[in-house]
Amino acid sequence: MAADNHKGRHSKASLPPPLKWAGGKRWLVPHLKKLSTLYQNRRLVEPFCGGLAVTLGLAASQALLNDLNPHLINFYQHLQQGLQTTIPMQNNADLYYAHRMRFNELIRQEQAASAESAQLFYYLNRTGYNGLCRFNQSGEFNVPFGKYKTINYVTDFSKYSPVLAPWHFQSGPFESIAIEPDDFIYADPPYDVPFVSYSKEGFSWEDQVRLAEWLVKHPGPVVLSNQATDRIVKLYRGLGFTLIFLMSPRRISCTGDRTPALEVLAMRGLDVNEELIQQFASILPLMPYSST
Ligand SMILES: C[S@@+](CC[C@H](N)C(=O)[O-])C[C@H]1O[C@@H](n2cnc3c(N)ncnc32)[C@H](O)[C@@H]1O
Repeated sequence: MAADNHKGRHSKASLPPPLKWAGGKRWLVPHLKKLSTLYQNRRLVEPFCGGLAVTLGLAASQALLNDLNPHLINFYQHLQQGLQTTIPMQNNADLYYAHRMRFNELIRQEQAASAESAQLFYYLNRTGYNGLCRFNQSGEFNVPFGKYKTINYVTDFSKYSPVLAPWHFQSGPFESIAIEPDDFIYADPPYDVPFVSYSKEGFSWEDQVRLAEWLVKHPGPVVLSNQATDRIVKLYRGLGFTLIFLMSPRRISCTGDRTPALEVLAMRGLDVNEELIQQFASILPLMPYSST
């Protein structure tokens, strides 16, 4: 086991996530902080890093961050290099559709890894409907113009550069990442609900099962969050994870549905003792679980 002293994490003030991202877990950061202070000197691995709410919230010193969405990872790689936006940015439908067309043109021309593409991705994320990221069958970004009254666009991302510099970003399916036995894994896959599809590939029940079987093989600490559906609870209980249940606050989803939902945290390789449970409960009440 890596030495669990207090060096490394929380050394930098945490920055807000730069994007809007469906399923963002900023609200879980206080809980995860309790765990991460216990497992401080490990590298944080997020196979589904999404909007980066967790790694930024924990101010991790070392991190391996993966997401299937290559545009998202391209944006973070440009943030590492101190991205400055130079494209015009206004909350205006004509400009939005012109930028969307240009972004799709860059994808067709295989220029999606460019700085221009990263800037457009940021603009489309902030200006499009509900911060969604959705592509049609031909791989074109097809989110309509959003409904915001005002948007504060960031043009200078230089403060992100030193924070993200030591982190390693990659884009691929979760199983493609090279994890080390000592890594601390926080896995936040797309929710187990039929109507949520974050990528054009979607995330099926078979993917959920493959993920659980992949996580159970990891010898280091693992935390998984998901919607507490009966089959998810059964899957992780069956694999010997310790489960706790929390009511998630309102969040954006692909449908625009903002109903709170019961969330499960499935943990293994961690000392989940009574004191820790009490600390969790002092942040947000723990919920009972009964199958439907
Ligand atoms: C619930 S979101 C993660 C949100 C993140 N924890 C946050 O706080 O912003 C799930 C992410 O998984 C990604 N994803 C979907 N299928 C994937 C796969 N097979 N492998 C890796 N990432 C995947 C999606 O692109 C999405 O960003």
